[in-house]
Amino acid sequence: MAILVTGGAGFIGSHTVVQLLENNQEVIIVDNFYNSSADVLDKIRTIANKDFKFYEYDITCKEQMDEVFRDNDIEAIIHFAGYKAVGESVEKPLMYYSNNLVSTFVLCEMMEKYGCKRFVFSSSATVYGKPASVPIKEDFPLSTTNPYGTTKLMTERILTDIQFAHPDWSIALLRYFNPIGAHKSGLIGENPKDIPNNLMPYILKVASGELECLNVFGDDYDTHDGTGVRDYIHVVDLARGHVLAINKVMNSSGVHIYNLGTGKGYSVLDIVNNFERATGIKIKYKITDRRPGDIDECYADTAKAKEELGFVAEADIDEMCKDGWNFVMHNK
Ligand code: UD1
Repeated sequence: MAILVTGGAGFIGSHTVVQLLENNQEVIIVDNFYNSSADVLDKIRTIANKDFKFYEYDITCKEQMDEVFRDNDIEAIIHFAGYKAVGESVEKPLMYYSNNLVSTFVLCEMMEKYGCKRFVFSSSATVYGKPASVPIKEDFPLSTTNPYGTTKLMTERILTDIQFAHPDWSIALLRYFNPIGAHKSGLIGENPKDIPNNLMPYILKVASGELECLNVFGDDYDTHDGTGVRDYIHVVDLARGHVLAINKVMNSSGVHIYNLGTGKGYSVLDIVNNFERATGIKIKYKITDRRPGDIDECYADTAKAKEELGFVAEADIDEMCKDGWNFVMHNK
């Protein structure tokens, strides 16, 4: 019995596959390298010292996915693959809705056809929109501010409806906060192909000299230093959350919703300062205008994931900065 991991060559996917293999799970990866590269697969094999099956297929293609399900005994799916750039989703909404929703439809059709009943979905704290307060609990109202976020929220709703029609299915919706850091080996990490949209990948490129200066998007937010506060979580902790979520869906039915964060908020300038302290590298920055759609503060209430999954994030911000930088140093 195998676990199908879509987007297993990506940032969070690759770290999760390592831990599944280390736990002796049989893994099948489907990835089309849209936002990842083939060399990650060998790096996963090197770290875990185990092998897995791989298909360079597109999960929106029903014929290709039918072959994967026909040829393998798939017990559960962890679905990471998807488009994830907020700005691009505003410019190309059709591309985002089409890819991110059709992939879910195809996977669910395969589940119905082949009797697979367990599904773990990569959702995002973006589904909380502009939260009325922090820390954010799973039962807070949901809304979105861009097509990317809407695809996450729509997928959550579609999966919830499908589970209702199949009461013996078990679905976990994992709402990630801000994943950063990298595997200790320095072999796998986040490697954006273009200029990064997210804070830590941008800082790493300033640190390595590829980009000159960090733009801090606004210093007039309602936070301790005026810059935006987020909940940064080490990707290795986040990956462990998926292993726990797989255990949960294997041993239950229903829809299970969890925040995966640390519960601690750091501002943009806190991150710059912590990065400088952890690595000894100075980050040049300037304050610019706010980025449209950004919110003041976003951090998780972690009680439900702790109580029901036994999930507690362990790495602190110093370790996240060091491990992220270690990955960059290994991949110059
Ligand atoms: C962003 C997305 C969110 C998505 C998440 C994961 C937006 C509005 N939100 O979250 O939907 O789920 O990424 O991919 O894009 N910052 C700077 N300078 C930069 C980059 C970021 O000051 O060059 C600031 C932001 O204003 C924010 C913080 O750093 O306060 C974190 O930003 P980012 O890493 O992009 O994550 P989110 O905005 O939380």
